[in-house]
Amino acid sequence: MKIIGTGSALPKFEATNDMLSQIMDTDDEWISSRTGIKRRHLLSEQDLTEIGVEACMKALDNAGIAAEELDYIICSNTVNEFITPGLGCILQGQIGAKCPCIDINAACSGFLYGMQIANSFIASGVAKKVMVVAAEEPSRIPSWQDRSTCVLFGDGAGAVIFSDESNDVLSMRTTTTSAYEVLYSKRAMEQHPFQKEETKDVPLVMNGREVFKMAVSNSQEDIKAVMKDANISSDQVKYFVLHQANIRIVDAIQHFLGEPKEKFPTTIDYTGNTSSACIPILLDRLNREGKLSKGDVLVMSAFGAGFETAACVIKWNK
Ligand code: UT7
Repeated sequence: MKIIGTGSALPKFEATNDMLSQIMDTDDEWISSRTGIKRRHLLSEQDLTEIGVEACMKALDNAGIAAEELDYIICSNTVNEFITPGLGCILQGQIGAKCPCIDINAACSGFLYGMQIANSFIASGVAKKVMVVAAEEPSRIPSWQDRSTCVLFGDGAGAVIFSDESNDVLSMRTTTTSAYEVLYSKRAMEQHPFQKEETKDVPLVMNGREVFKMAVSNSQEDIKAVMKDANISSDQVKYFVLHQANIRIVDAIQHFLGEPKEKFPTTIDYTGNTSSACIPILLDRLNREGKLSKGDVLVMSAFGAGFETAACVIKWNK
């Protein structure tokens, strides 16, 4: 498949580290030096659907196609107000698309899992034009009494439209290692009369150090594997488009790969971790800033709860 359009949207409201330091025991120095985050956009008066729609509309405009031309929408979403239906169904109606939609939850790796499904749909003839949209509100998962997790996240949405015009995915890999205890959250469910135990809300539980280690080692392994599969050497790679969870994770991956810093663009300073929206937001920024040229090779890689990881090598052919 080929990328034909990208779009992204961030909530209007921004919370700086200094603003957080007024409501909890933290400071700009700790957050900046440990994570690289200076500010994050949070949904306050807007809702997730609004920024999801904005990202989709920008991607359609960038692709130069109408919503009715989409054959499938794959929506990556970890949490939103609706348990059912999937967020993709709500976005579909609001953008004026008519195609089938499916939501997936592969946490922060969800956009790349969505790409893998899109690639299979296109290869098997199920669809010719597929939009993968990641719309995420991870600021609603941790407890805002827990300074070690809530400062890390921001809300946002990113969308990419793929078509069957060429075959630009040179390789792709997804991995899952069941290790939910390092990163999880639970929500209370309705009680029925025959249940013995009540379920409870459990805001995000994270073993930060363990996730950090798993992120660096798995991402490196994934990146090396997809580059080998695609028969691509590092000097052929224009950018490594990585999940934006912590600048120190990006730096560590860069260091282990022995690649120059300029090949690792970031948005983390102003977005924080927007879960699966990180990669399409970053890709859209590169596209809109004119940093991508036809034929550029991009390596994408993400990791997150599960523990799920994914990586791919794709040619920018737009
Ligand atoms: O999409 C996947 C999502 N998650 C991740 O990718 C997370 C990966 N892990 C990380 O990014 C890092 O482990 C963190 C940023 C979460 C934490 O950095 P760290 O260098 O591993 O710090 P730490 O957990 O070892 O905590 C060091 C200290 C602790 O104090 P003591 O026990 O040493 O006195 C914490 O209580 O920092 C304290 N601390 C804070 N201090 C000020 C934790 N959060 C804060 C805070 N402000 N917001």
